[in-house]
Amino acid sequence: MINFKEIEIAAEIIKDGGVVAFPTETVYGLGANALNPLAVAKIFELKQRPSFDPLIVHISDIEVIKELTIEQSDVIYKLADKFWPGPLTIVLPKSNIVPDIVTSGLGTVGIRMPNSEIALELIKKSNCPIAAPSANKFGQLSPTKAEHVKKQIPSLNCILDGGMSKVGIESTVISVRNNEFMILRHGIITEEDLKKVLPVSKYVDLSKGLASPGLLDSHYSPLKPIYLLDEFTGKIDKKKSALLSFKGCSISGYKDVEILSMQGDLKEAAANLFGALHRLEESTADFIFAESVPAIGIGIAIMDKLKKASHKYKSI
Ligand code: TXA
Ligand code: MG
Repeated sequence: MINFKEIEIAAEIIKDGGVVAFPTETVYGLGANALNPLAVAKIFELKQRPSFDPLIVHISDIEVIKELTIEQSDVIYKLADKFWPGPLTIVLPKSNIVPDIVTSGLGTVGIRMPNSEIALELIKKSNCPIAAPSANKFGQLSPTKAEHVKKQIPSLNCILDGGMSKVGIESTVISVRNNEFMILRHGIITEEDLKKVLPVSKYVDLSKGLASPGLLDSHYSPLKPIYLLDEFTGKIDKKKSALLSFKGCSISGYKDVEILSMQGDLKEAAANLFGALHRLEESTADFIFAESVPAIGIGIAIMDKLKKASHKYKSI
């Protein structure tokens, strides 16, 4: 049930230069007026986010693209028509009204229209585009529920509750040049999906260098050590460990188990990923072991999150 009164209160906070958390279909966002640099600075402060990491600007009306960018080709409208509102962020050359703090000084801005009634209503009522990163502390697990936001950012006064995010992982980020697209961050909208609209894709190896600022090796990490089962070479003490299982096979002996999808459905696994990791972070197990999922389609994005989550614990 949508609480329009709460959305109005949140919109007033945004208009006054404040920050609110709101649900989207991917993950919860921490939003401020994208055109107000001081308001956007508060997001960086609350998230403890480094300033080199640009924010995504959320819109509710496609026409706003004309104000935020300096180039609007037909293909952008084709992509928007097919995938918006939805989990696709399109990076485009920015206009002067977008403050540098939003884009980390880049000449481009990432834009998306979220597929959430609450988010769209909030943007409309605020009467401005909303810059929002995921509403987690920098480097930590992404939030797919209002409680996850409260856990990481308890000082935040306004969190709109829209229940569990249906997609569960962040939007696919692409840049588009000369009718070719380039995936900068994998998500639920896959290369195959995008090729149906724009047949030519430019491959970027996301494992080499920073194709997109903010794509660090370490990200999305729970507060306790997590390892990829495939890569772990030591002896596992199952009694002290939790298992993040893909389909529920070979789960016996572990202290705690979370199963992403009994049917082995990658979409369902993506939707459950961060919720499961939040529960395992809170469990009494000392370590988390994560099974790999098939790295095809949506599985590419899931494996990307798991690799980044475990990266900083590799050397421990
Ligand atoms: O699903 C999502 O995208 C969520 C919800 C809240 O919309 N937001 C999100 O934001 O994941 P965040 O800040 O956690 O990730 C934004 C990432 C940046 O780290 C960067 O990799 C990419 O989007 N990005 C944003 N603007 C960009 C730009 N101008 N050029 C290249 N990459 C950009
Ligand atoms: Mg994030």
